[in-house]
Amino acid sequence: MIYVKKILVTHKLPGNYLNEIKNYEVKIRPENENSEKWLLNNIKDANGILITLTDKIDREILNYAENLEVISTYSVGYDHIDVKYALSKGIRVTNTPEVLTDSTADMIFGLMIAIARRVVEGDKLIRNNKWEAGWYPQFMLGTDVSGATLGIIGMGRIGRAMLQRAHGFNMKCIYYSKHRHDVDAEYVSLDELLQKSDYVALCMDYNKETHHFMDYDKFLKMKKSAFIINGTRGKVINENDLIKALDNKIIKGAALDVFESEPLNSENPLTKMDNVIVTPHLGSATVETRDKMAYVAVKNLINILSGVEPIYEIKNIS
Ligand code: GLV
Repeated sequence: MIYVKKILVTHKLPGNYLNEIKNYEVKIRPENENSEKWLLNNIKDANGILITLTDKIDREILNYAENLEVISTYSVGYDHIDVKYALSKGIRVTNTPEVLTDSTADMIFGLMIAIARRVVEGDKLIRNNKWEAGWYPQFMLGTDVSGATLGIIGMGRIGRAMLQRAHGFNMKCIYYSKHRHDVDAEYVSLDELLQKSDYVALCMDYNKETHHFMDYDKFLKMKKSAFIINGTRGKVINENDLIKALDNKIIKGAALDVFESEPLNSENPLTKMDNVIVTPHLGSATVETRDKMAYVAVKNLINILSGVEPIYEIKNIS
């Protein structure tokens, strides 16, 4: 009897890459089934799973898996997976970096311009029929992006892509990261970055060390005129502290694509503040990027199941 390897897919993906999988049994979660329960019920004899960042793969679920060889996540981030435990059980883990770097940096940079120039506030004003006074010299003044100081925390792929964009805007770029990098920006201490930046862009990974990295004390070190921009993971900011800092006018504003708890509830105080922009985790959300991510996620999975090196793999975790 031929042994057919089993693959579980928690979400339908763009493109036809899943349809092209031959010689495997592919099960896609029915849309009306809860992803967590469905995985728990089906993972026992699965050889590979293709998941997204909303699927929490912890010890408990991994203990149900008897044949699992690979977890392929359709995301660059892998904080939703207990990678250490997976690796200790010989389960390989893959992700989709690089293909989403530019679209994510575009989004973060776009959010920075949008909060600085009050784009969303202006849009709301017109839609609510509140544009009464027309044009006048002091109307809805924002803050310059060109020429301002951008402080980037974390200098991985997305940090570097932010730098590229910032240079086009003649921004003075400084950065703080665990290690110094060979990039066209000044490496500074965290305190100096917080004190000097007009915009602080969070571009680090989320992990135990970066949990609640931005807290009230750090907001206190920022300029009162500065903005915080977050497109990585919500939990790198202590959200209650951010709300307090915004309420107390410790910083000028925030542009956020990610939140401590997603989806963000519209009752969250952040949604009531004019100096805050919130978007629903759209960093990599372009047609082109999501298609490339599908290709990479499927290829990573199939390669490992067929004994070939994947395009990307998370080999260790600190
Ligand atoms: C998005 O947040 C990702 O990790 O791909």
